Amino acid sequence: MSSENSPQVSSLRWRGDRLEMLDQRKLPSEIVYVDYSDAAGVADGIRDMVVRGAPAIGCAAAFGLALDALRGVPLEPAFKALAASRPTAVNLFWALDRMRAKLASSGPQSLVAEAIAIFEEDIATCILIGRFGAERVPEGARIMTHCNAGALATAGHGTALGVIRSARDAGKRVTVIANETRPYLQGARLTAWELVQEAIPVTLISDNMAGHLMQRGQVDFIVVGADRVAANGDAANKIGTYTLAVLAERHRIPFYIAAPLSTIDRGLADGSLIPIEERSADEVTGFGGVRWAPQGVRVAHPAFDVTPADLITGLITEKGVVDRPDTAKIARLFAT
Ligand code: MRU
Repeated sequence: MSSENSPQVSSLRWRGDRLEMLDQRKLPSEIVYVDYSDAAGVADGIRDMVVRGAPAIGCAAAFGLALDALRGVPLEPAFKALAASRPTAVNLFWALDRMRAKLASSGPQSLVAEAIAIFEEDIATCILIGRFGAERVPEGARIMTHCNAGALATAGHGTALGVIRSARDAGKRVTVIANETRPYLQGARLTAWELVQEAIPVTLISDNMAGHLMQRGQVDFIVVGADRVAANGDAANKIGTYTLAVLAERHRIPFYIAAPLSTIDRGLADGSLIPIEERSADEVTGFGGVRWAPQGVRVAHPAFDVTPADLITGLITEKGVVDRPDTAKIARLFAT
C-alpha cells in the first residue's frame, strides 16, 4: 500500500484538549498511546523516549506548549521544561523558538494552531525529502539505514525511511538492511517494524555486521537521518552513524543524510560544537529489565556521534539534495 499521504502509524495524535503519544518504548510488542494534558508531562515523555526522533520531538514540544496555553497557565516553565528534555536534536529548539515567536506576535490563543501547523508541515516536508531522495536511489538498491528515521520519528512518512518509501512508491524494487542500533535498538524494534508492516523487504543485522556486508558488496546505498546538522554540513545522528560513513567511504558506497531544514543549526560552525547527549548506563548494561553486564562496571553512553561533512555524499532536504555539503552550499539553502 502506498504510504505517501497515509503513514501506517502516527507517533502523535492531537485530540483537541490532549496529546496522545505512541509509546515507542513498548514497540513492537505493544501498540499503546499515552495521554498527555500538560507540557511537563510531554517533557517527561520526550526525556523517557515515549516519543523520539528529531522532528517528532519538535512536534511533541510544540503540542506541549499548546496544552499549557489551553490550561491558561504561565508558559515560561513549559518552555524551560521542554528545552531541558533532550539536548541534541535541534528540532526541539527550533519548534520552541517558533512557538515563542508566535506567542509574541499573536498571543497564547494562537499556539494550538501553530503546533498543528508545525505537525502538518513536517509531513509535507518529509514527503518532499522522500521524493528528492528517491531520485538518487538506484533501481534494485540494497539500502542500509541506521536507527529509526521513519514515520515514528517524524509527524509521518519519515526522512531516511521517507526516501525508501518514496523510492518504493516510484516503482523501484528496493530492499533494506536495518542495523539494530545498539543500545536502544531503534533499528530492530522500530525500523524493522515499520518496514515489515508495509511489506518492504527488510533484513535485520546487528551493528557490527555492517562492515562485513559492505566488504562483500551487499550494500548499494546508505541513508540515515540526523538530529542536528552544523552550518558546514557535519551531521550528528544516532551513535554508530559515523562508523558507517567511514566504512562507506572505504567501500565507495553513497552515504546520504536525509533531514529537514529544521534540523540544520546554522548557529554552530561545525559538528564539534553539537551537544552530544549522554544517556543512562542502564540502557547499555541491559534492556527491558534484563541485565547482562556485571554490577560495578563503568559505562559510557554517548547517544549520538558526528559524521564530518566530507564523508557525506549528499544532504537530502525538502529543498533538494545538497551534494557534498559545505558552509556555502548550506547557506544557499536558506537564501531562497
Ligand atoms: O535517540 P533517538 O531515537 O531520538 O535518535 C533518533 C535518531 O538518531 C534519528 O536518526 C534522528 O532523530 C532523525 S529522525 C527523522
